[in-house]
Amino acid sequence: MCGIVGYIGSREAQPILLAGLRRLEYRGYDSSGIAIILPRKNSVSIRKSAGKIQALEKLVKTKPLSGVTGIAHTRWATHGAPNQCNAHPHQDCKGEIAIVHNGIIENYETLKTQLIKEGHRFRSQTDTEVIVHLIEKFYDNVPLEEAVSRALKLLIGSFAVGVISTREPSKLVGARLGSPLIIGVGKGENFLASDIPAVLGFTKEIVFLDEGEVVVLDKDNFKISDLDGKTVFKKATHIDWDIAQAEKAGFDHFMLKEINEQPRILENLISSRINKESGKIFFEEQNIPEDKLKSIKEIFIVACGTAYHAGMVAKYALESLCGIPTHIDVSSEFRYRDLLIGPETLVIAISQSGETADTLAGVREAKRRGSSVISICNVLGSTLTRESDGVIYTHAGPEIGVASTKAYTAQLVALFLFTFYLAEIRDILPVAKINKYLDELRKIPKQQIEILKLQKKIATLSRKHSHLGSFLYLGRNINYPSALEGALKLKEISYIPAEGYAAGEMKHGPIALIDEYRAVVCIAPGSKVYEKMVSNIQEIRSRQGKVIAIISEGDKEVKELTRNIICIPKTDELFSPLLVVLPLQLLAYYIAVKRGCDVDQPRNLAKSVTVE
Ligand code: AGP
Repeated sequence: MCGIVGYIGSREAQPILLAGLRRLEYRGYDSSGIAIILPRKNSVSIRKSAGKIQALEKLVKTKPLSGVTGIAHTRWATHGAPNQCNAHPHQDCKGEIAIVHNGIIENYETLKTQLIKEGHRFRSQTDTEVIVHLIEKFYDNVPLEEAVSRALKLLIGSFAVGVISTREPSKLVGARLGSPLIIGVGKGENFLASDIPAVLGFTKEIVFLDEGEVVVLDKDNFKISDLDGKTVFKKATHIDWDIAQAEKAGFDHFMLKEINEQPRILENLISSRINKESGKIFFEEQNIPEDKLKSIKEIFIVACGTAYHAGMVAKYALESLCGIPTHIDVSSEFRYRDLLIGPETLVIAISQSGETADTLAGVREAKRRGSSVISICNVLGSTLTRESDGVIYTHAGPEIGVASTKAYTAQLVALFLFTFYLAEIRDILPVAKINKYLDELRKIPKQQIEILKLQKKIATLSRKHSHLGSFLYLGRNINYPSALEGALKLKEISYIPAEGYAAGEMKHGPIALIDEYRAVVCIAPGSKVYEKMVSNIQEIRSRQGKVIAIISEGDKEVKELTRNIICIPKTDELFSPLLVVLPLQLLAYYIAVKRGCDVDQPRNLAKSVTVE
């Protein structure tokens, strides 16, 4: 939800902190700030600004800060309006300590009332400010990290914090509980950040903090402990992304770049998961024993948003190919249900970021009930991956656009491969049948390239419909989730009301919506339900609805019914969501661009929802 960056070393901190913030802007961008210890005056100086990071850059251009220890923050407001006063960093009464925070403190009112009674003066409406006054209260003849730990123990909620103090100017303290925080290990300098891209331009050696851990950094060392001060030893992980991957690579937006990356990413993902010699599927971080996977009686998929739609597709695959009853729910519902799950349930948690609060809470509940958890995740070392029994990384590289695209299709491929893996170890499908599916799956990246060659045509089609006030997306069977995903893509980046629906439900309500002011996107590739989709299209046309149809190459019937068509290559029905989704992503993208929307940073949204 927010982005944290910290630096301690020998170089000027300001440019490094601002560069790091820029790379975290996708995490939240309604206000930002920076705090640096000024060695000469031995004081903490702060610059803060409402709006995006360029507002802060403009401010520090006229009022620069000079020092080698600092913290910075880009905010997605949860408590207190997104304005300069509520922007981080926040300070204690005496201005000796500065803090940046990501997360939500659920008991901050109680703590704030008590602190005010004790004479503390608050400047903002944020929950964060409570933390720095608690640190001030405990910072008496103890090291900064001890004061921080004592303060954090009183908090209920989630946090990742960066803290500096004029009393110990050669120290940078970080801590996390419920929100991600990493250490970047440099040479004669060290970094703290909410996410890898912030430091990747300076170091590829990353240490991931776990829940309840505190780190003390100076320019040459880092020391990790738990909140009780017990030392925790950790090694750095070498990250193989380069910073260019996190840039736009010549595309107008991260989202368009990431849509176009999908064929290469899926190609790598498929080939990296199939043993060249044996042809067997394998997952290096999948640590759940085969015997356990053979014994499970049911599967429960938990995820949010686009990841949930990937889970819906997986439900069709798992039930039809593995014969395992598969349930699914959005994480925010799953976590509060009276769950009938236990040791015989395999929970599959799907999350691009691995930091979605509701999904993490669902996983913790599942583990409490004795279920095994496997996560499908894109971020190495993220919280979800470190709390799961097994992990399947999607290796889609950093997904910067808030609207998820390449992570979605990578999740689908990972889920299909896992389905085949289960079907094989449980002796449900013969190897020959699995290999036939894998041969079809291997064709998908090239088929996606064929679709991406239609971008200009899709852009024209999108612009032609971009003035319409609302959209309906219809799909059936394994492409019902595709309809939901297409609608989510459009609404979240163009702000046009868009609804995904099971096409068979048309007569039960949505058909009342059909008129000439609405576009209806009909997902009708070759399938066992194709004729039913053709009937839907006929119903819509007879009521002057504007149909945009996604069909398979060679389809003649639908071409008679509408000129607004996008043809995709023929593939096994099972894999059609991997192809259908590209026109849906591009349709949303070009409509949003035509409407002048901020495609990569849509209003009110953040890339990773790390609070409830
Ligand atoms: C998708 O385009 C949205 N940005 C959003 O629904 C997202 O899929 C959801 O927040 C889940 O995020 P996660 O995969 O990181 O858990």
